[in-house]
Amino acid sequence: MPVVRVAPVPALHGTLRVPPDKSITHRALMLAAVSGREVRVARPLDSADTGATLDAVEASGVRVEGHLGDVVEVEGRGLRGLRPPPALDCANAGTLIRLLPGLLVGQHADHVVLDGDDSLRRRPMTRIARPLRAMGAAIFTAPGGTPPVVVSGRGPLRGTEHRLEIASAQVKSCLLIAGLFAEGETWVSEPAPSRDHTERMLEAAGVPLLREGGAVGVRGPVDGLALPDLGVPGDFSSAAPHLVAGALLGDPEVRLEGVTLNPRRTGLLVIMRRMGADVREEPGPDVAGEPCGALVVGRSGPLRATEVAPEEVPSTIVELPLVGVLGAIASGTTVVRGAAELRAKESDRIGALVRALRALGVRAEEREDGFEVHGDGRLPGGTMGSDGDHRLAMVGAVAGLASLDGVGVEGFEAVAVSYPGFARDLAGLGAVRT
Ligand code: S3P
Repeated sequence: MPVVRVAPVPALHGTLRVPPDKSITHRALMLAAVSGREVRVARPLDSADTGATLDAVEASGVRVEGHLGDVVEVEGRGLRGLRPPPALDCANAGTLIRLLPGLLVGQHADHVVLDGDDSLRRRPMTRIARPLRAMGAAIFTAPGGTPPVVVSGRGPLRGTEHRLEIASAQVKSCLLIAGLFAEGETWVSEPAPSRDHTERMLEAAGVPLLREGGAVGVRGPVDGLALPDLGVPGDFSSAAPHLVAGALLGDPEVRLEGVTLNPRRTGLLVIMRRMGADVREEPGPDVAGEPCGALVVGRSGPLRATEVAPEEVPSTIVELPLVGVLGAIASGTTVVRGAAELRAKESDRIGALVRALRALGVRAEEREDGFEVHGDGRLPGGTMGSDGDHRLAMVGAVAGLASLDGVGVEGFEAVAVSYPGFARDLAGLGAVRT
């Protein structure tokens, strides 16, 4: 397997515009497809994951012009206007395979099979199938509750109150979207607030949402969506590796521009500040109804270990593996708890992270619902595997920059799932690939 090696560097410097947000791009393409008008999506993310969503939209009879990364014009077919083919390939995209069924249960779709790659085939789907069935939908999974997912026929849907046991923006989004077609009110409550891009986009499309306490709801059936043209802001999760790399190295000045600063995404900033990092937000104008601005990481003092509490997990879910690298350089034991959900991502991110850290000479342990890292200010280096997981491949590169001997990452090419230009951007800030 080819190994990409990342050498240690003393510091990173520079300004970067990170790629557009993956979650927002998926939603923009799917909701534009069922909008009552043509929607112009500017700067949608060009990646393997969002490419799968664009392909699924086009395969469902929606005319699309333009290219990801530039401008895409989506000829909305109306709320019930999709004509999906018998099979759709969701590749590695969890957001696609979890949100699309919410739309498909409202279409004239006789029998649609959604499937994906080996990693996607391990991901739990009962969490969408069971609540959709409670609404009256005919949806099936493989015996283990994993893909393929089959959406069969279009029955009458009824509004239902859903209480999620695990905070999940993907599940919440799927159910709110299905609620657009249901008779009566569909409510979703979750143990802690997950990202709210779907809610923001539905409201922008003219759907009044219901809110009570932490719960969010929609009254259906709605007549249609009028999604306005929108631009996609930069992805906080793609800014995060650069931010963490900056904080791990001495005397950086790294500036990341045009990033979504939605507080349901930026929990990492709170954790980094607690560890002693100097990370600043410079808010700018909203983009696509999302708070947006620049992130700056400056000279950070020595990092201290921290404990990440379960309620911090949803707003940090994608960035928690990076907290493992911060923990390796910090003094003391960094503890992440209440994050069992990490085991159900593109890889088992608890097992894979701890294996990777150990391969790099860091003392780390798995817990059922998280991990512990015993930091002593140094990260020796070595060779680790990405487990085919884009986020772990980026974690490896960040570790390499802050290591003593460099880090080799097996399966580095997985970065293309969300950030094909990652190596180029990191090099632009001063990273050296050997
Ligand atoms: C996503 C939500 C998160 C995140 C995933 C993208 C989304 O998952 O891990 O990569 O676009 O809604 P959950 O909130 O469902 O855990």
